[in-house]
Amino acid sequence: PVLVVDFGAQYAQLIARRVREARVYSEVVPHTMDTATILAKDPRAIILSGGPSSVYAEGAPRLDRALLEAGVPVLGLCYGFQSMAAALDGTVAATGVREYGATRLASVDGSSRLLAEQDIEQNVWMSHGDSVTAAPEGFEVVATSSASPVAAFENTEKCLFGVQWHPEVGHSDRGQEVLENFLYRGAGLEPSWTTGSVIEEQVGRIRAQVGEGTAICGLSGGVDSAVAAALVQRAIGDRLTCVYVNHGLMRQDESEQIEQAFGESTGGAELVMVDAEEQFLAALAGVTDPEQKRKIIGHEFIRTFEQAQEDILRERGVIEGAGGDAHTAAPGHKAFLVQGTLYPDVVESGGGEGAANIKSHHNVGGLPEDLSFELVEPLRTLFKDEVRAVGSELGLPDDIVWRQPFPGPGLGIRIIGEVTRERLDILRAADAIARAELTAAGLDRTIWQCPVVLLADVRSVGVQGDGRTYGHPVVLRPVTSDDAMTADWAKVPYDVLSRISTRITNEVSEINRVTLDITSKPPGTIEWE
Ligand code: XMP
Repeated sequence: PVLVVDFGAQYAQLIARRVREARVYSEVVPHTMDTATILAKDPRAIILSGGPSSVYAEGAPRLDRALLEAGVPVLGLCYGFQSMAAALDGTVAATGVREYGATRLASVDGSSRLLAEQDIEQNVWMSHGDSVTAAPEGFEVVATSSASPVAAFENTEKCLFGVQWHPEVGHSDRGQEVLENFLYRGAGLEPSWTTGSVIEEQVGRIRAQVGEGTAICGLSGGVDSAVAAALVQRAIGDRLTCVYVNHGLMRQDESEQIEQAFGESTGGAELVMVDAEEQFLAALAGVTDPEQKRKIIGHEFIRTFEQAQEDILRERGVIEGAGGDAHTAAPGHKAFLVQGTLYPDVVESGGGEGAANIKSHHNVGGLPEDLSFELVEPLRTLFKDEVRAVGSELGLPDDIVWRQPFPGPGLGIRIIGEVTRERLDILRAADAIARAELTAAGLDRTIWQCPVVLLADVRSVGVQGDGRTYGHPVVLRPVTSDDAMTADWAKVPYDVLSRISTRITNEVSEINRVTLDITSKPPGTIEWE
């Protein structure tokens, strides 16, 4: 792989993504990883990320010179660039001049491999206080800027390169080309990492891991679990069983769509649909507190899923016995649990390697204590957009691949007040209209998601025909976002909003008012509960 050494910038993941966009496989490693471990990963190239520190500050992450002398091509960005300069006896100084934001580069005489085939006088994104004032010996300065006497340097003989700016951000004019020049011309790599190669590799890994065992995958209706299941199905065929728990809090026709889409696309894996609507509604009766709702839904979900799991394992002979305390794990059987963990989660939780062994919650599901599940996580190395590409390539339909995020507790946290079947039906009808109109307007890929929220305990007076109505308001909550951590309200065109409003009030008799939530996150969350 190409390794991105994370010096604590929020940019490391972004760099890895950009490298993958150049069709070269890339992973993030922490700067605390020692040189021997990094080199043991046999990197084809190394990119040093930016970081918040000053290279000479106490406790600042240090770059081991040995990493630069191992014969692996290296590109340093911002802090990474400065630490390269410092490690190789160049000079880094607090010049007192800071550069932030769009900065114009100036060219210098001579040629550059890193900046080949582009006008060096370009706008780049800078964010630094210290500057490299003298390049290390053997390095050529290939660009400058008003505050950076050395804005980029390279030593083509040793394949070492560095730039003061952030080529990975969209604000840098030729950023992607700079990264590609490093990868292709500097490190001599080929753009060969494709969706097809990802599928092939993962299928091989899953086969090796699962062997003759059986696997179970919970489908949520979201893209991650669907793609994970499709990959595992391709690897082990009908030894995979998918479980879909319908908690009755799904959107209109959603369960049917999942059943259909999934049945079609995986061609072979068994799909167990568990209809638990009554059970969930009974557990939610009288509950209005959002946290209480979440807890109940989560608890019921685990209980139902594990019961289904137990039934499947018994049917497959993985556990024996009649039930109660009598059953035991059959010797020699191995059970696997498929999860759609994505790469950003792996990086954020420390980037640990390998599948963790988890004990099942035998206290809820009644599974034997000696039965432990090994996790299969075929999406562990992928970003969301890559998961979508893999899903498409595997033949999953667009309405699964491009499905917008939907919370686990479903419509249960979009009814403000008690959750009842009548209220769910009202909300489902309104939500279906909003989704249909947003889709018809071609907004599915610009809007992150658009919850529709029923203010079930609020009533408002209206007039329809000649009569007074006393109905409920719904709130439209369309947002734009990259990762749901922050969000802005989406500026949906007025004519689209107008169609949604007219249709909902005409077609859903209990609703007589449609309102728009224009709060960003923060301070508002995306969901209302
Ligand atoms: P908030 O409301 O916290 O939502 O801004 C951020 C994102 O997370 C989704 N969400 C959930 N997803 N279980 C989930 O699986 C939950 O309990 C849950 N609550 C919120 C929400 O739809 C949005 O995409």
